[in-house]
Amino acid sequence: NAIYRPGTLGVAPTVPTSTEELERRARKVLDTKAWAYIAGGAGDGATVRANREAFDRWRIVPRVLHGTTERDLTTRVLDTDLAAPLLLAPIGAAGLVRPDADLLIAEGAHASGIPYVLSCQGSSPMEDTARAMAGTPFWFQLYWSSDEELVDSLIERATTAGAEALVVTLDTTMLGWRTQDLDLGSLPFARGQGIAQYTSDPRFMALVRERLAAGARSATDLGLDPRHPLATARAVRGGVGSLLSMSREHPGDVRDNLRSPEPRAAVETFLDIYSNPGLSWEHLATLRDRTTLPVVLKGVLHPDDARRAFDSGVDAVVVSNHGGRQVDRSVAALDALVSVREALGPEPTVLMDSGIRSGADVFVALALGADACLLGRPHVYGLALDGAAGVSAVIDNVLAELDLTMGLVGAASIVDITADLLAT
Ligand code: FNR
Repeated sequence: NAIYRPGTLGVAPTVPTSTEELERRARKVLDTKAWAYIAGGAGDGATVRANREAFDRWRIVPRVLHGTTERDLTTRVLDTDLAAPLLLAPIGAAGLVRPDADLLIAEGAHASGIPYVLSCQGSSPMEDTARAMAGTPFWFQLYWSSDEELVDSLIERATTAGAEALVVTLDTTMLGWRTQDLDLGSLPFARGQGIAQYTSDPRFMALVRERLAAGARSATDLGLDPRHPLATARAVRGGVGSLLSMSREHPGDVRDNLRSPEPRAAVETFLDIYSNPGLSWEHLATLRDRTTLPVVLKGVLHPDDARRAFDSGVDAVVVSNHGGRQVDRSVAALDALVSVREALGPEPTVLMDSGIRSGADVFVALALGADACLLGRPHVYGLALDGAAGVSAVIDNVLAELDLTMGLVGAASIVDITADLLAT
């Protein structure tokens, strides 16, 4: 009603309810590089398209005369009570959209009562973003650094800041083949975006100081890991190149963003250690002793990996292909959800993202076995259009459509959203 009523008076919303229109308007307000980074996918974009095509293969079959006047969207995932089966996905370098992006996303999430998964490559230190959540639950997403002490430091900070779960993203041990960013010669990190989590970390800054002491100051001294493919090498070189020109043009911005007296050394250190291409199940096995938080593995697509994850004692998985940004031509996330749920049976906690755009999409994902969904790009588009209010509006629109769909098809609560309400 709150969303419909202004429309009856002829008032159009600031943030469109149509997902296409939301994207179109966001594209208009974002600069070329920010749009490319946010909307873009890996390679030719086959997986970005596949994520949507997978939803298009499913149809809801509404029931009638079910008398569903009240709907209850609440649910519980791990130890977190959710107002609805929806969380905001972690988004690195969102500061490209607006300064203080993470604080605004947190504010919007809080306004709508939806948890935010804070990115390891967030644009504000997690302690600040945690405060902006103002009591609404949040989780922390970790990229497993090649520096094990940094891994521990990030986990400890997240725990102290009050994160209710640790989400370890496994699909980005190296950055994907991001053709748009490569061709524009742009990487967000080059502008000092996405490394606030690191430059606010004592262990990370110790590494930066070591680097400075060793005199490794030039872009050619990057010491790239030989296991990094050409994509990363090119992106890294492009990134540092733009950082250098950017520091000449806007030294203040770069210094502010990096919160470091030596931005170059900080970016170089970040690029060296933000992930670990050699990450394996053996690393994961050490996690149980390193945290008391529930552990969620994000980026699982193969049913055998999902089984192994639960055999290894994790608490949940997120079936995700990173919004089609990592392996082009990888399986659509919704298709993977079906095979993962089939392999696991009904009990284990399975979340899903990549391609969710609407309340009807959430309904389909839940009917196919997801316990909750993560919303990625749409909330960033809301941020671009109207800051915290825009984020909140996007969430509210998705939830309003989910609520309406449940009311129209006869699902009074989340457990009533079942596969018998779907057809292909
Ligand atoms: C992401 N994603 C992501 N995932 C993650 O675990 N850590 C991160 O820092 C980021 N950063 C990030 C930046 C941007 C600009 C995008 C678009 C995505 C992936 C994200 O959490 C989620 O998996 C996808 O966005 C879901 O797909 P949709 O909803 O965007 O289609």
